[in-house]
Amino acid sequence: MLELTSVSKRFGGLHVLHDVNLSVPEGAIFGLIGPNGAGKTTVFNLITGLLPPSGGEITFNGESLLRKRPHQITRLGIARTFQNIRLFKEMTLLENVVVGAYRHMNYGFPGLLLGLPAFREHERRARDRAHELLTWMRLDHKANDLADNLSYGEQRRLELARALATEPRLLLLDEPVAGMNTGERTELMREILAIRDRGYTILMIEHDMRFVMGLCERIAVLNFGKIIACGGPEEIRNNEQVIEAYLGREDDDEPEQAEARP
Ligand SMILES: Nc1ncnc2c1ncn2[C@@H]1O[C@H](COP(=O)(O)OP(=O)(O)O)[C@@H](O)[C@H]1O
Ligand SMILES: [Mg+2]
Repeated sequence: MLELTSVSKRFGGLHVLHDVNLSVPEGAIFGLIGPNGAGKTTVFNLITGLLPPSGGEITFNGESLLRKRPHQITRLGIARTFQNIRLFKEMTLLENVVVGAYRHMNYGFPGLLLGLPAFREHERRARDRAHELLTWMRLDHKANDLADNLSYGEQRRLELARALATEPRLLLLDEPVAGMNTGERTELMREILAIRDRGYTILMIEHDMRFVMGLCERIAVLNFGKIIACGGPEEIRNNEQVIEAYLGREDDDEPEQAEARP
């Protein structure tokens, strides 16, 4: 479904990604792991068109994503959540989900504000769908609350609902459980499985190894911008290079759960 071939990225003299190959099959829950600064978020920024790659090819269902604008890529069926949550805090949950969907359509706010019949009908459907997604994420009872009042775990679920509102086929999740407590993590694990079972494909960056190993059928490990291993959870857990670069030995500390970047 998603293929990265020999993808590289430089920021000036900084060579952040080298020859990255990645193949995410439809229906998978695929993990992308690795130390802080390895280039994981950059991979998402290239896929979603926020940044152009310096070399290589990225295709989605056979179609090249290079030189496409972010909203075009969204329309092809790729949605993401962000490492640093991005919500409209002064809007309600419902508005966050509806606006999330509208931002990627041809007519933006002006159309909404004009209130023309076609827009009104569209908005009604967008609201119905937003309620559905909020229900799915167990947030519909708060649909009219301000997003600002949500707990961290709820904000992450609202971001998911908003990403789903663009009707994607592929969901990119950047550290979905960062900042969540154990209970919230277990719940989100169930939700991500439920999302996949409804036919979505998921590519996620995550540091919580229990979460990654429990959910992902396939895992790619990025280290200093290079894929150093790719395989099933067992294979990755026992890979010497991965242990050395990232996982550590049994007696070492767990890898970091969250990263602090400005
Ligand atoms: N827009 C950018 N401009 C310059 N350097 C960047 C930019 N985005 C990321 N980097 C650098 O690229 C490297 C990889 O960052 P990132 O992809 O965020 O890593 P990860 O998500 O694996 O922690 C870091 O050294 C980071 O500072
Ligand atoms: Mg990152």
